[in-house]
Amino acid sequence: MSSIPSLNQDRPSGKAQPRKIVVLSGSGISAESGLPTFRDAKGLWNTYSWQELASPAGWQRHPEAVLAFYNERRAKAWQAQPNAAHRAIASLEGAYEVVVVTQNVDALHERAGSSHVVHLHGELACVRGSAGASPRRYRIDGDPIAMGQLCEDGTQLRPDIVWFGEAVQHFDDAEMHVATAARVLVVGTSLTVYPAASLLQYASRDAEKVLVALDMEEVPHGYTFLQGKAGEIVPTLAARWLAEAGAT
Ligand code: APR
Repeated sequence: MSSIPSLNQDRPSGKAQPRKIVVLSGSGISAESGLPTFRDAKGLWNTYSWQELASPAGWQRHPEAVLAFYNERRAKAWQAQPNAAHRAIASLEGAYEVVVVTQNVDALHERAGSSHVVHLHGELACVRGSAGASPRRYRIDGDPIAMGQLCEDGTQLRPDIVWFGEAVQHFDDAEMHVATAARVLVVGTSLTVYPAASLLQYASRDAEKVLVALDMEEVPHGYTFLQGKAGEIVPTLAARWLAEAGAT
């Protein structure tokens, strides 16, 4: 009789490390910093068309409109300030190894002090060439880019953002971190976009799993749902975890 295949057989190797916290964040964690989410009532994709502005086809059709859309988002993200949730997550580094895996393209985690941030969907503060699989990248912080501004390879500079239909960045790295976390904190994401949302399945069975959002259609199995604003809930959670670690 063949043995029942383990549910974990395709999980990355590695045991949960007691002092390791992995945070999976989405646009909701930056909402209290004044940046829009995507699917809430006033979300970006309820105002603009992602097909026109966040896809390779849209870029081919009208690159100037795409550049203008991201120039505006980049400037707003650069003017925004980290909020209490970003700062609380950064404070956990006083007692834990903290890896932030974010779907967000703003730099608010880094600017709050988080030292290990994995951007799955790219970064607004960076631009790259628009050809080939391993383009040159340039950090431009909050500056705009225009048509005619070229990469060293001669191609038009484009936002270093993962558009719909493009491969996410650093997924294997993110998967390994989730699989070796003793705590997984999911904050401000509707978990509707893959493969980012699939990362939750790699959490160790015995890891503590918490999800913070304003609302969730379906709470993933094994997760404790704390409903409310990230800026209110995450600092309380972080204070408790720091106290447990003997840090104040
Ligand atoms: N505090 C906590 N959660 C919040 C807050 C807040 N102040 N405001 C909104 N939320 C929650 C909502 O309840 C929702 O679950 O944030 C989530 C936002 O969901 P989406 O708008 O779908 O954003 P996100 O999950 O980050 O989208 C994922 O989709 O278009 C792509 O690349 C884009 O990275 C993005 C991905």
